[in-house]
Amino acid sequence: MWLQRLKLGPRFNVLLALVFVGGFALSGLALSNVLESRAKNEVTSKALVLIQTMNSVRDYTTTNIQPLLNPRLDTDSTFIAETVPAFAATEVFQRVRKIDDYKDFFYKEATLNPTNLRDKADSFEANLVQRFREESNTKEISGFRDLPGGQVFYIARPLAVGKESCLRCHSTVDKAPKSQIATYGDQNGFGWKLNDIIAAQIVSVPAEEVLDNARRSLTLIMSILLGVFLAIVFVINYLLKRSVIRPIRQMARTAEAVSMGEMATEFEQNSRDEIGTLAAAFNRMKSSLEISMNLLNKKQ
Ligand code: HEC
Repeated sequence: MWLQRLKLGPRFNVLLALVFVGGFALSGLALSNVLESRAKNEVTSKALVLIQTMNSVRDYTTTNIQPLLNPRLDTDSTFIAETVPAFAATEVFQRVRKIDDYKDFFYKEATLNPTNLRDKADSFEANLVQRFREESNTKEISGFRDLPGGQVFYIARPLAVGKESCLRCHSTVDKAPKSQIATYGDQNGFGWKLNDIIAAQIVSVPAEEVLDNARRSLTLIMSILLGVFLAIVFVINYLLKRSVIRPIRQMARTAEAVSMGEMATEFEQNSRDEIGTLAAAFNRMKSSLEISMNLLNKKQ
């Protein structure tokens, strides 16, 4: 094999390089998978906390604010949006986004038949709502999707008409407060039924945000790995040269000289390791050789 034709140093280095390139590629691949899924989990758990918070805000609005404002909805000419759970959630989320950690997060209650057309589910989001409707066990869907503004990572949860009170504004036009009809019209956001899944609560983050994080960690770890490998190669080469290659070369030169009859040269025994033992054995062999040669010479 061609490797066997190489000298010790290059052979070691070729083998080390092969092992390293393989190991580097494999660990890079495994690591990038692990880091990416960790980054996704991190964003997902943040997003889930946000969705739960938004649901608490919705609940608070329904139980604490609505009873106070309900009487005014029919009499006031302008609609009091503060009584709407969805409005409260959207407003609170705008404030959450002012916190640095959450400035890249987006929130949407993507709805099939929304009161405010801004909340209309696009075809991708409509599919998510549809899936939540069909698969009652699916409580969360996450993944990447391409948008005109770039790729995003999204986390979606189903949103159902959970309370009787929702139906006042979302069932039929005649039940709805007049001020609501005046503001939002009588076309949208009606016909919902109790416990129907009508929307998906979606939190999304630019994919860059998620992947950059993973990539930064990957680059750091791979650079450390590269550094460690270079150090290993350096140390192995140094040790190989110092304790194997150089003494063997010297021994070869000495053996060459002894074979030419220069009996005064000694095999240098500089260490107590295998090479040192070999040098000692060669010296003993050289002495035996000398004795035999002397005997032979005397006989002649
Ligand atoms: C007082 C009337 C009222 C009540 C009660 C009410 N909503 Fe709404 N809802 C609205 C209005 C008005 C909007 C549009 C708000 C906006 O402009 O963002 C809306 C928005 C929404 C949205 C966002 C999509 C859309 O239609 O624009 C969802 C989802 C929603 N409501 C669900 C519910 C649920 C679930 C309940 C019961 C817990 C509920 N609503 C109770 C009036 C109401």
